[in-house]
Amino acid sequence: MNIIVGITGGIAAYKVPELVRLLVKAGHEVRCAATEHAMEFVTRVTLETVSGHPLYSDLFANNEHSTQHISLKDWGDLLIVAPATANIIGKVANGIADDALSTLLLAFSQKPVIMAPAMNSLMWAHPAVQRNIETLRGWGIRMVGPEKGELACGTDGIGRMSEPEAIVAEVEGGERKAASGERWLVTAGPTYERIDSVRFIGNYSSGKMGFALAQALAETGADVELVTGPTHLNISHPHIHVVRVESAREMYAAATKAFPQCKGAILSAAVADYRPAECADHKLKKQGDEGMTLQLVQNPDILATLGGMKQEGQTLVGFALETDHELENAQGKLQRKHLDYIVMNSLRDKGAGFGVDTNKVTILGTDGSRTESPLMSKKEVARLIVNTITS
Ligand code: CTP
Repeated sequence: MNIIVGITGGIAAYKVPELVRLLVKAGHEVRCAATEHAMEFVTRVTLETVSGHPLYSDLFANNEHSTQHISLKDWGDLLIVAPATANIIGKVANGIADDALSTLLLAFSQKPVIMAPAMNSLMWAHPAVQRNIETLRGWGIRMVGPEKGELACGTDGIGRMSEPEAIVAEVEGGERKAASGERWLVTAGPTYERIDSVRFIGNYSSGKMGFALAQALAETGADVELVTGPTHLNISHPHIHVVRVESAREMYAAATKAFPQCKGAILSAAVADYRPAECADHKLKKQGDEGMTLQLVQNPDILATLGGMKQEGQTLVGFALETDHELENAQGKLQRKHLDYIVMNSLRDKGAGFGVDTNKVTILGTDGSRTESPLMSKKEVARLIVNTITS
């Protein structure tokens, strides 16, 4: 691969020559780009010697170089920013291009980028930095670290740049995932089951968990077919294709059509188990003073159907929202529906389940594995689930 290593002004820049050396040793062609501040921490001579190429650091060094960010963008297959300061993260998140590296980063918008953030732990914790990190992640930029440990300012906390070996591992992991071009199916949200032309039976599912799962899968380089019931959520990612459906039967049709082409499926939708036996094509009128009986019939079980269709090599993941005998019920579903994993949340846990931004789950595998999460944001839970089922 042709890799560009972009260096910004942090003390961890001293580790970059080692990163470049490891990448070259692994068979990659490497060129370096640096900000002015980076040059306070690592020298041009060192970077040019380890990479074997001239350093790109000045947008206007000469006329030829004024479009070098475009030719470098064409040359590179991957851009790694290490260390990535709060400053470069903020610039990219806001579309600012005021020097050689930030200009290159914007030009690289259609190609893979890995960042290894490094900064003081209080800076890392700042809401602006966290918001910018989420924005970049949302665009598919992969983050390595930062790690917890001793920081240059003498304190201890989260902010250390990951070691060069960890960054190289991310490059290689990404290469494998991207090469496989895997497609995944995700179901999300509630289903609406029509009673008449203006009424339906629904539930409080927001779709947040399923959308976060689609995002987390896309961040690994997978293509995602996101089949969602009615929700106000939107998602925009080049690797995510959204199919909007209303009822369980529509979701069933979309999911069973997509599944044979997929490496796996995660079914997080809250599908209505029953629908009205009949749906009136007009608004039903009140009749007398009597109550009304609505006859319900069972909907197809999408998860169980995919379990029956599953071929060797496909991974199937279901959700179980339980109120009592949680583990026992979840284990039962895992076996009955031929799943590989079941993600269980208990309605007894505060902050877990419908509508909220957080979740707390236990992931059970048919291989006997059991992973428990603390109460985390649904985005973090999604990353944990994706890591567990793809590793
Ligand atoms: N599910 C599905 N199709 C259905 C019902 C559920 O695909 N018609 C999926 C959900 O997306 C979830 C899992 O099945 O991944 C568990 O749903 P749940 O309602 O908890 O399970 P049931 O089998 O309906 O069991 P029970 O109602 O007895 O708890």
